[in-house]
Amino acid sequence: MRPVLLPHPPLVDRGAGVALRPWTASAGDVAALVAAWSDPVLAAANGVPDDASAAAAARWLRSDAARRAAGACLDLVVGPATGGDEVLGEVGLRNIDRDRRRAEISWWVAADARGRGVAAASARLLADWALSEQGDLDQVWARIDPTNTFSARVAAAAGLVELGSAAGTVVWARTRAPAGTRPA
Ligand SMILES: CC(C)(COP(=O)(O)OP(=O)(O)OC[C@H]1O[C@@H](n2cnc3c(N)ncnc32)[C@H](O)[C@@H]1OP(=O)(O)O)[C@@H](O)C(=O)NCCC(=O)NCCS
Repeated sequence: MRPVLLPHPPLVDRGAGVALRPWTASAGDVAALVAAWSDPVLAAANGVPDDASAAAAARWLRSDAARRAAGACLDLVVGPATGGDEVLGEVGLRNIDRDRRRAEISWWVAADARGRGVAAASARLLADWALSEQGDLDQVWARIDPTNTFSARVAAAAGLVELGSAAGTVVWARTRAPAGTRPA
């Protein structure tokens, strides 16, 4: 498997006030992840591990670089564009399939940061990057519960279009524009 490299330079949307960075195993990141894993709304939408303890969160964060090195996924903290340590949410790629050149994109936002454009801007940043020369994918796709209208709005804001339903979820995707039709 090809390692997943971090976006370089880091992805920032100053207008929306968000910047994407890798997770660390700092106390702040551990606490933010534990808080996210204990949020029932997030658990229902994204799924969280059975063991949502601080020890499990710290273990998961310590293995973040290894997951990237194995080419499995890319999980990025959504932080403030001003550079603070705060965790506003997460965007990521998983099920990265280099043969088919596609990956699943996902997102969540911490309860107290919702409703101010964090997910829309972050998903857009990551989708744009994934479909760039650096991200080197041709498609990002997402599966969203049909009742999750906010997440559907996030997908649309990131340029994904609804493809249809599969296994009880709505599948969205965005495909890279063919060479020659991409903006310079
Ligand atoms: C879904 C979720 C990611 C949205 O994150 P967010 O940062 O609040 O979303 P944004 O502020 O970027 O808003 C996206 C859209 O949803 C709308 N929206 C978000 N929260 C809203 C609220 N409380 N009331 C009304 N509309 C809301 C926004 O107006 C926007 O719609 P628009 O494009 O028509 O303007 C967030 O609510 C969340 O993490 N929920 C729990 C986990 C989850 O659902 N994850 C996604 C799994 S597929």
